Amino acid sequence: MEIIIQPNAEAATAVATRIVAHLVREKPNAVLGLATGSTPLLLYRALAGLKLDWRKVTTFNLDEYVGLPQAHDQSYHSFMWKNLFRHVNISRKNIHIPDGMSGDIARFCEHYEKRIRAAGGIDLQVLGIGTDGHIGFNEPTSSLASRTRIKTLTRQTHKDNARYFGSAGKVPHHVITMGLGTIMEARQCLLLAFGTKKARAIAATVEGPITAINPASILQMHPKVTVCLDDAAAAKLKRADYYRWVYANKPDWQKS
Ligand code: PGA
Repeated sequence: MEIIIQPNAEAATAVATRIVAHLVREKPNAVLGLATGSTPLLLYRALAGLKLDWRKVTTFNLDEYVGLPQAHDQSYHSFMWKNLFRHVNISRKNIHIPDGMSGDIARFCEHYEKRIRAAGGIDLQVLGIGTDGHIGFNEPTSSLASRTRIKTLTRQTHKDNARYFGSAGKVPHHVITMGLGTIMEARQCLLLAFGTKKARAIAATVEGPITAINPASILQMHPKVTVCLDDAAAAKLKRADYYRWVYANKPDWQKS
């Protein structure tokens, strides 16, 4: 794992933006795995401002709430259109987001996995992290080999997401999410985390044991993960000084 610690979310996002932009310029038909939530908002705004050519880019989103129509203001469909897709020249047919209204969720999930494979796999997966260590909506005790499927949110995630819905009663309990096995097949992962609330989960992910109780810890087994953090999210890392030194002394040829 490459751990990049910056003084604030803006600076950490600038690093992440360079990584995504570099890929899209190098590979105009890149397949991007995308995340929702508050964390990637700055990234999407920065990418939209770069005027990259998205015509041949394909995207797969990590997850969606079950039971929310696409047009619901809290659906991840709405989120993605509002915060990224309507600001770039992406082709609608290249956008994939799980369908939370599917009448046959198991079949839909199989189909989603097939679409990812048919697109040639995901080149770069953008990830946030839950306070409980989830990536996508792979909650604690998710199989480390899981595929796209339905999951039930933990009480913690339900509570964390109530802020978007106005009240906890309106947050769906079920979601469709890519599995940890699905995420692990991406050729590169880019994990972003900002703020004190994420410090525990980040320390467990980077320096703790690999365990389904902290699902993001499976990323330790991935050959190419970049973790972009602000100081607050990095606050509980025991080896933060080492990660800072490594990044400050990164050879030019390794920089993207
Ligand atoms: P957040 O959510 O970006 O809104 O903190 C992250 C997540 O739950 O994965």
